[in-house]
Amino acid sequence: MASSWVSEWQAGYMASLVLVLLWCMPIAGGLEVDMAGMTQMVFLHDNVTITCKIPGSPRLDIDTVGIIWFVKNELNKSEVKVFEFYGNHVESFRPGATVPLLGLESGDASLHLPEVQLWEAGEYRCMLVVTPDKAEGKIMLEVVAYPTIRLFVKPSTVRNDEEEHIICELDGFYPEAFSIKWGKYTLKDSQFQEITEGHVTGPTLKNDDGTFNVSSYLTLKPSLEDHGTTYQCVVLHRSLLVPKKLNVTLSEEGAKDVHFAFLAFLVLLFPAAYALWRCVLYK
Ligand SMILES: *[C@@H]1O[C@H](CO)[C@@H](O)[C@H](O)[C@H]1NC(C)=O
Ligand SMILES: *[C@@H]1O[C@H](CO)[C@@H](O)[C@H](O)[C@H]1NC(C)=O
Ligand SMILES: *[C@@H]1O[C@H](CO)[C@@H](O)[C@H](O)[C@H]1NC(C)=O
Ligand SMILES: *[C@@H]1O[C@H](CO)[C@@H](O)[C@H](O)[C@H]1NC(C)=O
Repeated sequence: MASSWVSEWQAGYMASLVLVLLWCMPIAGGLEVDMAGMTQMVFLHDNVTITCKIPGSPRLDIDTVGIIWFVKNELNKSEVKVFEFYGNHVESFRPGATVPLLGLESGDASLHLPEVQLWEAGEYRCMLVVTPDKAEGKIMLEVVAYPTIRLFVKPSTVRNDEEEHIICELDGFYPEAFSIKWGKYTLKDSQFQEITEGHVTGPTLKNDDGTFNVSSYLTLKPSLEDHGTTYQCVVLHRSLLVPKKLNVTLSEEGAKDVHFAFLAFLVLLFPAAYALWRCVLYK
């Protein structure tokens, strides 16, 4: 019992030693790893898997396998370790960073990072040893956050205000670059018409988590506008595969109609309720 434990420990120790020696050696041919291209884009707060795999899923003896993941941050140019495994040794240098050992037995050394943060973007390097061979791969991890977009008509604070504002608000996006375009569809012309004047985009505000907010304001003179005009805010951002389009339709007439219908309903309801009340009370 004890001797088997000792021999197991010794085997592990030897494996560690061999692997540690291999880290220092130049890369010899034979072993290769596949990464997911040059850049991998992930969303802020998502759980990510950075791919690093030996093609063809070979069956490996785990005692001969070692892996170290490094990251070189954009701000901090020095490379630091994220995770390492060899012999009897497993260590995470970033909370939750893992390489599932089950996958490693079939050559999958992909790194899992839960809840990725903006500052974790950078170059990730996977260094894999399968005694006596060694391979490495690099990939850029880009962390982005998509904006929460709201489009709304700002309630007029001044009575009989001639101007109205439509606001297109983008919250919580990263990186900072964005583009906001305005357009409209009128009842007369159902083609998209870009609005090139009368809008301003406010300053970009930075949130504590590193993401940004910004609003664009479109100023209208509703009296001059056709009723039923639909205004559209078009947002372009790195995190969006296609431009995001939001519509708002100005129809004061419509809003009044709704109010009128509701009032009419109350006017009808009240005598009915009254009659019912009388009936119950005086029966
Ligand atoms: C990330 O993984 C954790 C468990 O590790 C899970 O609770 C969480 O829902 C996952 N988040 C996402 C965005 O998938
Ligand atoms: C870079 O990161 C390492 C490890 O986290 C840290 O020890 C070092 O101080 C950092 N350097 C800079 C310039 O931030
Ligand atoms: C950005 O927008 C969010 C959501 O509306 C808000 O909670 C936050 O305070 C805004 N940040 C700044 C810096 O204004
Ligand atoms: C916005 O309105 C226009 C015109 O009514 C319509 O063609 C378009 O599909 C709408 N887009 C969205 C995103 O609702």
